[in-house]
Amino acid sequence: MVIDVLRATTTMCVALDQGADKVIPVDTIEECLAFTGKENYILAGERNGRKVEGFHFGNSPFEFMDGVVKGKTLVLTTTNGTRAIKMAEHSYQVVIGGFLNFTALTRWIVAEGRDTLLLCSGWRNKFNLEDTVFAGAIIHHIKEYFLVDSDSAFAAEKLYLNSRRNMFHFMKQSSHYRRLAHLGVINDIKYCLRPDLTTIVPVLKNGALVNADHDKKHRI
Ligand code: MLT
Repeated sequence: MVIDVLRATTTMCVALDQGADKVIPVDTIEECLAFTGKENYILAGERNGRKVEGFHFGNSPFEFMDGVVKGKTLVLTTTNGTRAIKMAEHSYQVVIGGFLNFTALTRWIVAEGRDTLLLCSGWRNKFNLEDTVFAGAIIHHIKEYFLVDSDSAFAAEKLYLNSRRNMFHFMKQSSHYRRLAHLGVINDIKYCLRPDLTTIVPVLKNGALVNADHDKKHRI
């Protein structure tokens, strides 16, 4: 599971929940621009929390509501989240999520019943608070089904237990909160922390994220 709750994996879930056919995560701006002009494709780019110059879409979940992505393919590149997905793409299965599909995501992981690595995207190859708290929340809710034998998992769960009573207040201490607040997108943070807004579970298939249920229905 790849985690980038502020905001990439949240935004990807929103796009699929809002009817996007698929979401293609790409590493670089150039890879994203290579899709320019393709019919029914939408290109979106973020670096350091800001929309990439020249792009019509950035990485706010609010940009992909109101029908703008319905029936379309979203090609997205972000500072950390899409990079983490690409790093994980050769594993058996990649699933993504955030607080907005929390329950569906935990049910999916338990149903899959496989060894699961929680990959926190972090910030520029460093630890970040929000992804680790989310990983701790996942661990806390599914640990009865798994052997959890790592100090990082233990620490993540403790971080979650210390923050869950007032998650938004706790997240104010994160560097990415300050970065996004400086950009005036505090509403994005509030949205990204809201639990169970959707039951969609995005999985990576042939380089694109699709809804797991959709994928199963179409499997022969
Ligand atoms: C990331 O990929 O690091 C984040 O999603 C950046 C952002 O908040 O847009």
